[in-house]
Amino acid sequence: MKEHDVSSVKIAGVLDNRFRKVMQSPRRILKHYVKKGMKVLDFGCGPGMFAMGMVDLGAEVIAADLQQGMIDLLKGNIEKTKYEKKIKLVKCEQDEINIDEKVDFILVFYVLHEVKDKEKLFAQLKKILKDREKMYIAEPIFHVSRNEFEEEIEMAEKQGFKVIKRPKMMMSRAAVLVKDKNS
Ligand SMILES: C[S@@+](CC[C@H](N)C(=O)[O-])C[C@H]1O[C@@H](n2cnc3c(N)ncnc32)[C@H](O)[C@@H]1O
Repeated sequence: MKEHDVSSVKIAGVLDNRFRKVMQSPRRILKHYVKKGMKVLDFGCGPGMFAMGMVDLGAEVIAADLQQGMIDLLKGNIEKTKYEKKIKLVKCEQDEINIDEKVDFILVFYVLHEVKDKEKLFAQLKKILKDREKMYIAEPIFHVSRNEFEEEIEMAEKQGFKVIKRPKMMMSRAAVLVKDKNS
């Protein structure tokens, strides 16, 4: 997979299966950030394992993705379940998130290396994130080197985010950033 290639809908099973739910349990990873009553964004949601996980933590979720195929998959996964009313699906464009609602938390999980203009993305995410709220970024070590990850984080910082934590996660690089009110 080259940088900026988007993950094919055909491999969606790799992103949503029992093994991954254990290895990358959304509850374990996000329980300190996602609280009951929050409105959160799962940016680049794919088939929606984290979107559903955040509903389980009590949030209302905006699940956004570039590929209609991923959105259709998630729509199918949540149809007639408790998740249906709690997840709003949004189709993004490559350079336009198509969201203007304010949110309390943003998750960008295994997505950033697929995004062409990361600074533009961070500028748009900053606009919809409430002041002093958090964004969680994770990238897979098999696609993103340490240097590449640091470059991504620098781009976020340039757009007004500040790193507050570097969570440890198996096979991943991760950072929690806060929207700096004064930037
Ligand atoms: C590797 S998948 C990760 C899916 C999900 N976050 C997860 O961890 O299960 C990356 C997802 O990001 C989406 N994506 C890539 N570029 C995007 C963009 N510019 N805007 C929105 N979604 C994007 C892809 O369509 C794909 O569904």
